[in-house]
Amino acid sequence: MTLSVQSLAALAVEIQNGLQNRDRFTRLINSIHHALRCDATALLRYENRQFRPLATAGLAPDVMGRRFSLEAHPRLEAIARAGDVVRFPADSDLPDPYDGLIPDQQELHVHACVGMPLFSGQSLIGALTLDGMNAAQFDPYSDEELRILASLTGGALSNALLLDRLEEPASSFVPPPHRPEDNEEAEIIGESVPIRHLKKEIGVIAPSDLSVLILGETGTGKELIAQALHRQSTRAAMPLIYLNCAALPETVAESELFGHVKGAFTGAIHDRKGKFELADKGTLFLDEIGELPLSLQAKLLRVLQYGDLQRVGEDRALTVDVRIIAATNLDIRRAVTEGKFRADLYHRLSVFPLFVPPLRERGEDIVLLAGFFCEKCRSKFGLQSVALSPAAGAQLTTASWPGNVRELEHAIYRATLMAQAESRSRDVVLLPQHFSLDGGRLVVPTAPATFTASELPERSLHEATRQFQRDYIQQVYQTSGKVWAETARRLEVDPGNLHRLARKLGLK
Ligand SMILES: Nc1ncnc2c1ncn2[C@@H]1O[C@H](COP(=O)(O)OP(=O)(O)OP(=O)(O)O)[C@@H](O)[C@H]1O
Ligand SMILES: [Mg+2]
Repeated sequence: MTLSVQSLAALAVEIQNGLQNRDRFTRLINSIHHALRCDATALLRYENRQFRPLATAGLAPDVMGRRFSLEAHPRLEAIARAGDVVRFPADSDLPDPYDGLIPDQQELHVHACVGMPLFSGQSLIGALTLDGMNAAQFDPYSDEELRILASLTGGALSNALLLDRLEEPASSFVPPPHRPEDNEEAEIIGESVPIRHLKKEIGVIAPSDLSVLILGETGTGKELIAQALHRQSTRAAMPLIYLNCAALPETVAESELFGHVKGAFTGAIHDRKGKFELADKGTLFLDEIGELPLSLQAKLLRVLQYGDLQRVGEDRALTVDVRIIAATNLDIRRAVTEGKFRADLYHRLSVFPLFVPPLRERGEDIVLLAGFFCEKCRSKFGLQSVALSPAAGAQLTTASWPGNVRELEHAIYRATLMAQAESRSRDVVLLPQHFSLDGGRLVVPTAPATFTASELPERSLHEATRQFQRDYIQQVYQTSGKVWAETARRLEVDPGNLHRLARKLGLK
């Protein structure tokens, strides 16, 4: 069995026809998958020392959300370094990045695996990987044939990247002045319609100098979006300064924002720059802007209008050049009507409001994000594989996620710990029981609790869970100065939901 001229020609035609489509890579990968009778096939994009799947066949759906770093994946590193087709020995003990991720194949030990680096000129732009359960599966194909396949695929990828660049707004042709080297540059995962729309808006707004107000429920990724806006702006080489307005006691807030001079107040023993000065020529991210005291709102407005400010205790005005990005999870318009937030400041800040949709409205992204966090967990806990069972995936997709992406991230971390504690193996599979649902709301214990032997058969799982919640909430409440709003914040749940839960648990 070899690759016929016909099948290669058909692939070439497929590639050309598909170039303009969003699903072009899926069609290409499906063709290769069938022509070579693979069990798992993937096209990966290489950037910043990591591989990102562009299309897969035969792999779990959450793989599309995973990011495979070279450091964590020796097979991929070998492919990245090879410069030519790599055939891994069937019994290679290098872990396979898709271990546990081929549905119905729990463990991927002895199997056939071929990797092909893809180049554009001299630079590595991606890789094509083929996996087969039969150890001799790819032996009939010569290196020569596989090279043709790789160069067809590499050409398609290179052209597609070029086309994407052409479709971007002209300003993005200007290379950003500075690119942080580390790949910790947080990526916004998601392909759902609202997230694609949001990414497009970010691309348009970022290069302008206008203020941006990011709105959205807690945990939706507002901070991530602020970072993306800064990174894609002309100020990217200058600092992005973070200020959490909610954590500012009113007494020090003015000095935090605008700085102070020596002797301005008791304890002011040195001159000190405020966040505005630190952010000069860069960006100031005012997080939780809705919590900014009214007195400071007036002062902030003044800086936005005139670009000058005064340090506390000084008469001289300083001029600053700062771009403001603000974020809040409050209903800020309601705060305006209730007189808690200045209307003029609101209008000034919301030249460009960006609305981040709640996770429950992003359907298909949930599974991508779950995969993304599984992969992070795998690295973090040094596991061989962290797979999400289809049943657990389905459960996550239908949960309501009041704490949004943050809640999903924590749920995956905790489920991984639970699953690992249970299986004591380095290959972990997350099953529905590692997550527990309570009225549509996902409840996951924070730590594997231990019980005395006599307790074990006495309580149903439901009652044990409720007891855990009762104790845990009670403790956090006690250490939050008995303030429910603060308890909700620390538990990262919606205050309304906490209120209802506390009543249900008999705490109120
Ligand atoms: N689209 C995404 N892709 C990857 N990670 C995400 C995404 N959205 C959110 N996260 C992650 O979820 C967590 C919460 O996000 P973030 O802190 O940006 O939320 P937020 O909207 O600022 O919430 P809050 O209003 O509570 O401050 C972070 O760890 C962030 O990295
Ligand atoms: Mg935030």
